[in-house]
Amino acid sequence: MKNFEYYTPTKVVFGKDAEAQTGSLIQAQNCKKVLVNFGGSSAKQSGLLDKVFDSLTNAEIEYVTLGGVVPNPRLSKVYEGIDLCKKENVDFILAVGGGSVIDSAKAIGYGMVNDCDVWDLYEGKAKATGCLPVGVILTIAAAGSEMSSSSVITKEEGWLKRGCNTDYSRCKFAIMNPELTYTLPQYQTESGCTDILMHTMERYFTTERSMEVTDSISEGLMRTVIHNAKILMHKPQCYDARAEIMWAGSLSHNGLTGCGSVGDWSCHQLEHELGGMFDVAHGAGLSAVWGSWARYVYKTDVMRFVQFAVNVLGVSNDFKDPEKTALEGIKAMENFYRFIGMPTSIRELGVELTDEQIHELAYKCSFKKTRTIGNFQILNMEDIEKIYIMAR
Ligand code: NZQ
Ligand code: ZN
Repeated sequence: MKNFEYYTPTKVVFGKDAEAQTGSLIQAQNCKKVLVNFGGSSAKQSGLLDKVFDSLTNAEIEYVTLGGVVPNPRLSKVYEGIDLCKKENVDFILAVGGGSVIDSAKAIGYGMVNDCDVWDLYEGKAKATGCLPVGVILTIAAAGSEMSSSSVITKEEGWLKRGCNTDYSRCKFAIMNPELTYTLPQYQTESGCTDILMHTMERYFTTERSMEVTDSISEGLMRTVIHNAKILMHKPQCYDARAEIMWAGSLSHNGLTGCGSVGDWSCHQLEHELGGMFDVAHGAGLSAVWGSWARYVYKTDVMRFVQFAVNVLGVSNDFKDPEKTALEGIKAMENFYRFIGMPTSIRELGVELTDEQIHELAYKCSFKKTRTIGNFQILNMEDIEKIYIMAR
């Protein structure tokens, strides 16, 4: 087991009607003015926003609002938020939404306290020294941003999607009522389940040995997500399934499933370029490339893939032929993705890639041929291009 730090400062308020506590949770932050940040129409239509405004008003908390954050959140909206917060002297940001709104809120928070252009933090040209405090009311179980150190923003110029990871941006609190996710379209629900699984798989596929506790947590978490994602295909209003998925989403990305290992993150890097260029749903972009990545790298450690196949997917172990078991596991995972309506190729995302586009994706993903990705197997630009070709 490798040395590690585990830091999860986010207060979680989980369960039915949890959003009623919004006002008191913000009061405890001792702030003067709040920005309520939200997305397109879902939070308005469901009546959640009105409840939030009522809760703030009852707690005598001043607020301003900024809606219109889109999936794969844009830098221009972040700049708009920073301008508004400066003008209004905002000192706390409440994100009402999913990963996109939370990430946008975190980026606005960075922009408020760092002197540089906020995009420099996402390009690694500057280091963050702080972030305005952010709280969240989660409406989709997926990205795990409510407890993660991460924020991912897309710059329209060049369609670059980049992340900034620091503990400064970890949310002060996360309000999680599984009922708020009932209104999600099935595709978004299942895309979220896929992202949750991937956050654990990115950490699980490691060449590190002897991490029994972390492995057991990860395998149990993945089995739970697979089980409940299937239930939600035919019972979208099943509270218990929604609750399991929501809690799994946070635990999948708050660091717990990575204690003692070095994460791989190749599939996320491959997806970020697809999300930046083609605006695909993040989870769907991940399932579209995962099988190709897995077939490209499994020989690095066949036994790790055997463990995954047997312990997560229930594949029977062919002790005489570990490679067969490993490949059965990859196939079983892809069959699960198909069952929940997720793509297993880029074409199924509705994107027909040309050779030039594949080259551009690989070039961008390798940061113009200046970096490799992955740890389970280190991948250079040529490897990346081959995986996109396999996945197209
Ligand atoms: O904008 P609205 O109308 O709210 O619609 C959203 C959006 O269209 C809708 N939605 C959300 N809650 C809903 C709802 N519709 C009906 N009922 C509800 N209760 O769902 C759509 C997707 O929302 P989004 O916030 O984009 O989803 P998600 O949470 O999957 O976030 C994806 C973003 O997070 C980034 C992704 O790259 C992507 O940009 N990620 C962030 C991470 C982090 N900060 O730790 C890690 C992840 O790996 C990921 O990269
Ligand atoms: Zn993700």
